[in-house]
Amino acid sequence: MLERSKLADNALQALHDEDYDVPFNTQSLNHDGLIFMGGRASTSLDGDWNFCVDLLDTGLRQKWFAMLPETPEERTEPWDYDPYMGETVPVPSNWAMLKEKWYFFEGSAWYTRPLDAAPEDPGKRRFLRFGAAAYDCKIFLNGEFLGNHYGASTPFCVEVTGKLKPGRNWLMACVNNTRTRDRVPMRNTDWFNYGGLYREVCLFETPQSVIKDFFLYLVPDGTYSTLRAEVTVDGPDAGPARISIPALGIDAEFPATANGKAGMDIPARPDLWSPETPELYDVSVTCGEDRVSDRVGFRQIERRGTEILLNGKSLFLRGISVHEDDAVLGKVTGEEDLRRRFNHARELGCNYLRLAHYPHHERAARLADELGFLLWEEIPVYWAIEFDNPATLRDAENQLMELIKRDRNRASVVIWSVGNENPDTDGRLKFMKRLADTCKSLDPTRLTSAACLVNHAQNRIEDRLAAHIDVIGLNEYYGWYEEDFEDLAAIGRNSEPDRPVVISETGADGVIGEKGPEKGLFSEDYMAEVYRRQIATLRGLDYIKGMSPWILYDFRVERRQNIFQNGYNHKGLIAADKKTKKKAFHILADYYRQIAAGEEDARKAS
Ligand code: GCU
Repeated sequence: MLERSKLADNALQALHDEDYDVPFNTQSLNHDGLIFMGGRASTSLDGDWNFCVDLLDTGLRQKWFAMLPETPEERTEPWDYDPYMGETVPVPSNWAMLKEKWYFFEGSAWYTRPLDAAPEDPGKRRFLRFGAAAYDCKIFLNGEFLGNHYGASTPFCVEVTGKLKPGRNWLMACVNNTRTRDRVPMRNTDWFNYGGLYREVCLFETPQSVIKDFFLYLVPDGTYSTLRAEVTVDGPDAGPARISIPALGIDAEFPATANGKAGMDIPARPDLWSPETPELYDVSVTCGEDRVSDRVGFRQIERRGTEILLNGKSLFLRGISVHEDDAVLGKVTGEEDLRRRFNHARELGCNYLRLAHYPHHERAARLADELGFLLWEEIPVYWAIEFDNPATLRDAENQLMELIKRDRNRASVVIWSVGNENPDTDGRLKFMKRLADTCKSLDPTRLTSAACLVNHAQNRIEDRLAAHIDVIGLNEYYGWYEEDFEDLAAIGRNSEPDRPVVISETGADGVIGEKGPEKGLFSEDYMAEVYRRQIATLRGLDYIKGMSPWILYDFRVERRQNIFQNGYNHKGLIAADKKTKKKAFHILADYYRQIAAGEEDARKAS
């Protein structure tokens, strides 16, 4: 526990110590601290929190968190920073969207709220869970530093057993969204740097022995006849865990846990999940007094040569890329926004979405499970990451493991992607091969991918990483950043990939309405023509097994400042109002209709 220092004692140290933040950047809150949440009751801590931007990190320098008097009235010294009076903001939110003065704010911001707790039950444990905090988050409770999380889009838990006093407590989060070279993503991206506590926060209680992790899947051996269940229990031995899947007549006891882990194979022949038949099964797991539940679909995704197969049948991924971005809410993604997104994807004729460029809200994969969409999920190893920096690898790998542990019971998720448009260096190859291997070690059931590079000199798909991933993602912008469509056709002829290729991005800006030019670059017509020519070229390449053009909606980004863009990337098939469809929307929808019809004819003929 940090010594409660008085301001005067701290004053000079606070002015002269530029390593003030080192004790708080521990990254101690990470994938290993995650608690499985399915079916758990929790107390929401959403709502108004006190808020204060703190550009110079005065809060950390002067350790104001350690000087919280019982009540504000008890203060005996002047203060610069105010954790619990003044402005409030709603959690979840991004501060950029709340006040003009915070739009481009980049730095530390403090969130503080009172937390009234009942006396603790000695047989229980208590945790806080943050759905996401962009980018790094330091947690303090009643002045004590509890830990730090890195990564803007993955959840983390903080155990607070024995730390909540009966009655009034003060919970503080210092959230810092500064872009730096060594972070993941680093300081240069093509999406808006939204900061803040922008997903749900809750408090929950568990027994002493807690089911920390639970993974259930169909063994991908092509027989569709065995489920594999794995459970991790943290705490004193609570005896064997049990799993129940009533609709399959399963009620089985795990073997005794070894080091808290147990696994078993269970014979079963479930109805298979697919976009056409999104079958989900209610599952519950108990161990001692703990009980969790989930709704799980069973399917097998695999590749054979250049084919992608779902449940043994070849598949073409009719997709679209999406960001988490909203003209009003920023990166906050609610149920309504998600249902609108999936409805538009359905109208487009999609069976697949690329959730770019970071882990989206966990609701997205749950909804995709229910509605029947396949998903590519990814971590923001984007552009020029510090591939030779071990701390950067630790950050990237932790975000990947948090994503996989969060979503690996989601049938809709079929691809984990470990990067986007990264330079082909030795350091990058080693870094991303490690991430691809981590995917396989945590989850033997899904495909791995990355948005790879084209060898433009040879006009060929050529990226050393391709040998270490299952599906080659290809971002190509012929007609926009690259002029000559003939080169795209040449790439097709010159490339002989031994595994499936999906066009993970292609597209063009089209500014709709009077803000856009009548013709030429940034016009809606030019964008439509790029889509026509892309489709005409790509449909001839038989090793292309899917595409997720860039992007469903126009989205906010700082770098796009010409007179047509006005701080937005306009490659959306739909404008930022998430209503107005552009001509290219209908062109792509027509192509997907033809693909789906062709697949239907093939089914009828077989
Ligand atoms: C890149 C990148 C996207 C970006 C897009 C564009 O390929 O992956 O994040 O928004 O191109 O330039 O619009």
